[in-house]
Formats: sequence, structure tokens, C-alpha cells
Amino acid sequence: MDKNNIKIGIIGLGCRGISMLESCLLERQYLTFTAVCDVCEDRMEQAADIIEKARGIRPLMFADYHDMLKCGIDAIMIFSAWETHIPVSVDAMKAGIAVACEVGGAYNLDQCFELVKVYEETKTPIMLLENCCYGRTELMVFNMVKKGLFGDVIHCEGGYRHYLAYEITRGEENCHYRLRNYMNRNCENYPTHELGPIAKILNINRGNRMVSLTSTSSRQQGLNEFAAFEKGPDHPLASYPFAQGDVVTTVIRCAHGETITIVLDTSLPRYYSRNFNIHGTKALYTEDNRSFYFFGNEQHEKHDFVWEKEWGNEKEYRAEHEHPIWKKFLEEGVQGGHDGMDWLELNAFFDALVNGKEMPIDVYDMASWMAITCLSEESIARGSAPVAIPDFTNGMWTMRKPQECF
Ligand SMILES: NC(=O)c1ccc[n+]([C@@H]2O[C@H](COP(=O)([O-])OP(=O)(O)OC[C@H]3O[C@@H](n4cnc5c(N)ncnc54)[C@H](O)[C@@H]3O)[C@@H](O)[C@H]2O)c1
Repeated sequence: MDKNNIKIGIIGLGCRGISMLESCLLERQYLTFTAVCDVCEDRMEQAADIIEKARGIRPLMFADYHDMLKCGIDAIMIFSAWETHIPVSVDAMKAGIAVACEVGGAYNLDQCFELVKVYEETKTPIMLLENCCYGRTELMVFNMVKKGLFGDVIHCEGGYRHYLAYEITRGEENCHYRLRNYMNRNCENYPTHELGPIAKILNINRGNRMVSLTSTSSRQQGLNEFAAFEKGPDHPLASYPFAQGDVVTTVIRCAHGETITIVLDTSLPRYYSRNFNIHGTKALYTEDNRSFYFFGNEQHEKHDFVWEKEWGNEKEYRAEHEHPIWKKFLEEGVQGGHDGMDWLELNAFFDALVNGKEMPIDVYDMASWMAITCLSEESIARGSAPVAIPDFTNGMWTMRKPQECF
């Protein structure tokens, strides 16, 4: 592969594909946009127009990704529907094409094992594009945990708390995958935005691992009410028996006794939050008020009334504890979507790809994080029963070294 001319193919040119193309990919002069693929012809044409305008050459267009895998690309960027992520990743790795795959959840454990098996057989580079691992706050907290400021981290919380009723109930009009998933499945369907940064903090698959979970779902009502309000009470979605509960709470237990709570909360009105909370023996970070609390300092001893004055103290710690990735990013100029996280995750992918480094969010992370979805589905179906989380590293987690950076 010529590192100054990496030939990429993009699958999935919906909202995310177009936005990544425009805000994070086209500016990278070392990329050649060889091909685009989408089952929806309009979206493919739109992407081809954008690429042609920016680069002067129209990419090849494919409705079937299998054809795109034969057209000479070095890497595939997967921005398509959840159901496609693992099948496309597996086929691309078999074809020796490096994979950068958007986030979602797995549909069964077999496909997670297949993902790992094909990687181990082919060693084709693959990275899960979990942009939230590159969030400014998440990386600063990771840095502070590494410095020992939290003592031992015992409990973490996260959530995907994003009111998506409009997007979900417009699934027919937008050919969007969320609608069919919410109609048919009840699970923690989008675990990785919050779990990814927490897994990095807890050294999951590197000296630690997730061993079991329980998931509990509320009933569903939010989407019916929203559909009745938006489309009228006689619209089929106003009374459709959605399988997906409005709020799904999953508790994960790790090998060394740490616990992680993650919450999927996408159908009831609310503000956006990833509910990032990291609780150690010496400190707490809470997204509730974007603050750190340290054991043994003045705030702690004087209790809550003093803590209130510290409301939003996160910024005060940046000068000392900003993660080096973000220090450099701020100096160079933050760019790309989602406050820069999208840019940084692609930097990490292409850097690992051209320099032959280990992918920072690797196949074991991808399989174990995505498996939470199908395992939560099983737990809910069995009345919130505990479910074992497989060790996708086959024991290697006991020997793999924690990451200092990713
Ligand atoms: N990391 C983030 O912050 C972030 C943000 C938004 C979306 N996403 C992820 O990006 C992905 C896409 O989300 P979106 O909102 O753009 O969805 P979307 O529905 O707007 O786009 C998905 C596209 O994939 C295409 N597609 C589906 N199956 C295909 C197949 N077999 N072959 C070719 N094309 C196919 C669809 O036609 C559609 O154009 C999802 O995995 C989502 O979770 C991530």
C-alpha cells in the first residue's frame, strides 16, 4: 500500500457516510476515493458528485459491496446499517482489505467469533470507529486514571441517552435501519459510545475482561406517543407493538469485580447525554455537573455545600491533565464532526494502517463491545437473567498489556 495514495471504498452514504466524507475524509490528501457503495442509488450518486467536485475524478459506484471488494481498494470505510457491519467486515478481511467500521451491536455471538477468527487467520487490520473513545473529557479522565489520581476504579456508568423518536419513526421515509430494529428486537442496541471509553479505562481485554451481564428493559410507550403526536393517532406506528423497551439498563461485571452500568434511553423526551461517570477509591468524575471530586481534599471534607461551588470544575484540570492527543489537536486546530472526535479516530486508523501498528480499537474490543447487544437481548428475554460474556481473546487478556494511549 502506498501511504501517500491509500485507495478507499466507502459503503453506506446516508447521514453518517456523507458527513464523514465531507468533514473528515476529503481533506486527507493521502486518500484516493476509488469507490462508493450504497443500495440506495441516489445516495451513491450524491457521494460520487461530492467526490468528483472535490477531487476531479468520479469514483466507481456499486450497489453490491461484494463487487466493490474486487475493485482494488486498500481499505473499506463501513458507514452502512447495523446489520451489515460484521458481514462486510468479515468479507473485506478475507479479501485482504483493511476495515474501519462504524459502531453498532452484534446480532448473535457466532458472528462475533467469526469476526475474531477471520482476523486471526488473515491479520487484516480492522478498527471499530468508536469516536467517543477520542472525546476530550473521556481522554482526559483516561489520562488521570493512568496517572493514578482515581486510585482503583471500581464502578463506571455510561449511557446512550439521545432522544431519537423522530429519526426512528421516520424510518420508512428515510429507509433507516433503526425502525426495523426497534420493531423487532429488545436489547441494548447501541452500547459502544459509552462502553468504549469505560472499557479503555478498565483495561478490558488487557488484564481485565467483562465476565457477565444482566439487562432489564422497561415497557415501550414513547415511540407510540411520539408517532401519535407527529403523524396522528390513526397512523400504524401510533399503536405498533414495538419490541424495543424505552429504557434498557445493563449491568456488567468485570473479572476483578468492577461494575459498569450502561443505559439505552432513546425513546422518551430528554437531553443528550452519555452519562460518563467514573468512580474510583480516590476520585469521582461525573458528567452530571462536569466535575471531579477528590478524596481527602478540602471539598471532600466540607461535603456537599462546598462541592456545589465546584460546579463544572472540569476545565480547571485541563491545563495539567489534558490528554496529549488533545493537547496536540488543540495546538494544530480542532476539526471534523462531533467536536473533533471523528477526526481523531480516523487519524488513529490511518496512522496504525500505514505504520503497521496495532489498531487502537481492535478486533477483540469490537467483538466484546458489540456482543453486549445480543447478550442483553438474551438476558431481557430470560427475565433479566445473568448471561456470561465470552472471552474473545481466548485467554490472551491475562497477558495483554494495558494501553497507555490509543
Ligand atoms: N459514531 C457516531 O457518532 C455515529 C453517528 C451517526 C451514525 N453512526 C453509525 O453510522 C452508521 C450509519 O448511520 P446513518 O445514520 O448514516 O444511517 P443511514 O440509514 O442514514 O445510512 C446508512 C446507509 O447504508 C446503506 N446501506 C444499508 N445496507 C446496505 C448494504 N447492504 N450495502 C450498501 N449500502 C447499504 C443505506 O442505504 C443507507 O444509505 C450506523 O452504524 C450508525 O450507528 C455513528
